[in-house]
Amino acid sequence: MPWWPRLDRPAVAPSVLSADFTDLRGDLDSMVESGADLLHLDVMDGHFVPNLTFGPFVVAAIDRATDLPLDVHLMISRPDRYCADFASAGADALTIHVEAESDVERTLRDIRDAGVRPGISLNPGTSLETLTPYLDLVDLVLVMSVQPGFGGQAFQPAVLGKIRDLAGIRADRGLDFEISIDGGINDRTAPDAVSAGADILVSGSWLFGAPDRRVAVNDLRKSG
Ligand code: DX5
Ligand code: ZN
Repeated sequence: MPWWPRLDRPAVAPSVLSADFTDLRGDLDSMVESGADLLHLDVMDGHFVPNLTFGPFVVAAIDRATDLPLDVHLMISRPDRYCADFASAGADALTIHVEAESDVERTLRDIRDAGVRPGISLNPGTSLETLTPYLDLVDLVLVMSVQPGFGGQAFQPAVLGKIRDLAGIRADRGLDFEISIDGGINDRTAPDAVSAGADILVSGSWLFGAPDRRVAVNDLRKSG
């Protein structure tokens, strides 16, 4: 079974997209030493988003290099074709996009059947209503606060309302999925995200570029 930390504070998930891939082990170790809770891995197919990153082979290598749980964000058009491969590679959570071309419900069920935590994500321009049929099938909702595809973009504060509404729906329906926010998260944007209801803060360029990563992880955690 996949494992996951108990979240009683905002959890910090460094986005490996911003790591130095010539020293990946060193960068992963540094995030462990800095107190990160999860690792966020961005998979892009050059079709769903205009960028390419890595696939199950690299996820498996990262899984061998760290004990941190792996939160794998699939920015790919056909996650149904690959979720079994990512599960075998060691993903602990697999998040698909509601805008993808797969049968969303079936793919989420397949992910859970593979023993992995299913998650769903939506782009900044996609309405929260599109998630309504799926919220009782997921362990994680990943709210994009930038257009997916690239690190280093500016946080879009308009998504804060979406997080607040999502937290409200979760309470009203008695659900217990975690809310994660991804894109433009730093020490200035994290407090608003956490007060809106975010449980997990994904941060790439700011966290990996911080002069002291331990201080940066703590700064994000203190956003609560
Ligand atoms: C963007 C990715 C993000 C990205 C975040 O498509 O999903 O996870 O790495 O990077 P920053 O924190 O630099 O916005
Ligand atoms: Zn991501």
